[in-house]
Amino acid sequence: MKDIVIFGAPGAGKGTQSDYIVQHYGLTHVSTGDLLRKEIADQTELGLRIKSLMDNGQLVSDDIVIEMIDKAIAADTRGILFDGFPRTVTQAETLDRLLAKYGRELTCMVDLEVPQEELMRRLLERAKIQGRSDDNETTIAHRLEEYRTKTLPVADYYAAQGKKIVIDGLGTVEEIATRVRQSIG
Ligand code: AP5
Ligand code: MG
Repeated sequence: MKDIVIFGAPGAGKGTQSDYIVQHYGLTHVSTGDLLRKEIADQTELGLRIKSLMDNGQLVSDDIVIEMIDKAIAADTRGILFDGFPRTVTQAETLDRLLAKYGRELTCMVDLEVPQEELMRRLLERAKIQGRSDDNETTIAHRLEEYRTKTLPVADYYAAQGKKIVIDGLGTVEEIATRVRQSIG
């Protein structure tokens, strides 16, 4: 069983590459961003609490996402592709602990590297088509700042464990999917 983290800045292509990875390895796709957006769309109590944070491009609290991930691992028997999680070192440490609780261990972390101008270009392009409420220039800048200050240390956490695989995230979607497959094996 494989448990994999897909990692990268906002707009790096985590969601896009997730579709290929889950299909190839038969994994369950768990995107904390998608789960949180569903809470907002359903207007749950949690959704109402987190909407302004997400609209501002700030991370929601570790406790909230960790509870979601605990439930997802408990319900899964195939292996999980974690998309958008972990985003803080606390989340990464907790993921190791939660997987161990179920006798599992993270296989690897795939880090999609894309230059900042390209991230901005992709997200502003998507804004025209999809209208995600956090895809505007001001909020994207906040998301990139959160990534730099709180999430980048997670990459070092996995590098120290020898689990970080760096992938050039520039190119066509299919080219990148091939690179990812070849490096995961
Ligand atoms: P989340 O939903 O995870 O968003 P994000 O990390 O900002 O990243 P995106 O989903 O925007 O980008 P992506 O890397 O998935 O790229 P995509 O494939 O879509 O998080 C949203 C918010 O939720 C956070 O700000 C935070 O508030 C909260 N949150 C979520 N998880 C959390 C956590 N663990 N802890 C705390 N808070 C959390 O691609 C982007 C665009 O580029 C698309 O239009 C796509 O078609 C295009 N594209 C993709 N690949 C290519 C390519 N190769 N060439 C050209 N275009 C491409
Ligand atoms: Mg995404």
